Amino acid sequence: MRYKRFGKTELQVSEMCLGTWGIGGAGWDSNSEETRLDAIYAAVEAGINFIDTAPAYNNGEAERMLGRALKNMGKRHEVVISTKCGNFFNDGVNYIRDCSRDKIIQQIDDSLRNLQTDYIDIMLIHWPDPKTPFEETMGILSDLKKAGKILHVGVSNFSREQMEEVDRYCTIEAYQPQYSMVSRGNEAQIKWAAEKDIGVMTYGSLGGGILTGAIREVKEYAPSDSRNRFYKHFQEPTFSKIMEVVKVMDRISAEHDNVPLSQIAINWCAQKEFISTCIVGSQQRRKIFENVAAFDWSLSADEMAMLDEAIHTYLD
Ligand SMILES: NC(=O)c1ccc[n+]([C@@H]2O[C@H](COP(=O)([O-])OP(=O)(O)OC[C@H]3O[C@@H](n4cnc5c(N)ncnc54)[C@H](OP(=O)(O)O)[C@@H]3O)[C@@H](O)[C@H]2O)c1
Repeated sequence: MRYKRFGKTELQVSEMCLGTWGIGGAGWDSNSEETRLDAIYAAVEAGINFIDTAPAYNNGEAERMLGRALKNMGKRHEVVISTKCGNFFNDGVNYIRDCSRDKIIQQIDDSLRNLQTDYIDIMLIHWPDPKTPFEETMGILSDLKKAGKILHVGVSNFSREQMEEVDRYCTIEAYQPQYSMVSRGNEAQIKWAAEKDIGVMTYGSLGGGILTGAIREVKEYAPSDSRNRFYKHFQEPTFSKIMEVVKVMDRISAEHDNVPLSQIAINWCAQKEFISTCIVGSQQRRKIFENVAAFDWSLSADEMAMLDEAIHTYLD
């Protein structure tokens, strides 16, 4: 594993952060609770010291799994936890954004309980809530930071303008946008954040799994599956275009003893100096070790250029 400074937080974090959306047990392929818990053990064994979660992931279940796993391992203080606030399930199906003072207080208390901890390393606003003034949300996050319940404050899915505004009320130290070979729309504001020394943790590094080469045909997913609801590129016309990029990944893999394609997608993100860590979701030990092995080798400048050319040709 490689480690990098996480912006102005000065934390040293693994360049791969484990994502726990699937580990929460809803919205993705289903695995037993034992398998999902074991994924967290595997990540820590593999050297991952940064784990991302959220109350929105199956109504707190991902946080509860993480709390249990870290308690069982006795590793709470060795792992940096990021979780989120302001976004929750109201009925198990629809997400509601609410960044009002009272909701944030209640949600963070719930997260502390779920995670079996008395502090959260990084607290992110999950999505901007247009109904609540930023001053109110950042005011309460600033108070909770002073109280020691949270150590660092950040945002996810914010625009650059929104980040500039919230930073006036409470310094933001972490930014979590979507970014991968199939989602580069946030690149300009990621670079801006990195220049401001904000730790950048990018999500969807495998494009929700499409960049692993494991999915080569359009499939039917359950209506609640994230590959229906959240990552729209599992459907045509984008699916076939991505498959052309995957063929270029196949050629690069063949030059490196047939490395799994997931490692190419991870290196494409992690090798960029403006990214502190890339979040990768997996519920399975085998896949986590496979993904972490990305850090045993690097893409050459020529291979990066081949990938960028394919992305430009098929996805721009
Ligand atoms: N802030 C936000 O709004 C936001 C939004 C989305 C995600 N996130 C965070 O980012 C994390 C990562 O994103 P994501 O989980 O949406 O997508 P992702 O990491 O791009 O892809 C996850 C998918 O890839 C599969 N996978 C992982 N490694 C694999 C391998 N080696 N071979 C084959 N398949 C593999 C996983 O399967 P298995 O799970 O079955 O192992 C899962 O289906 C989330 O868990 C969450 O923590 C944040």
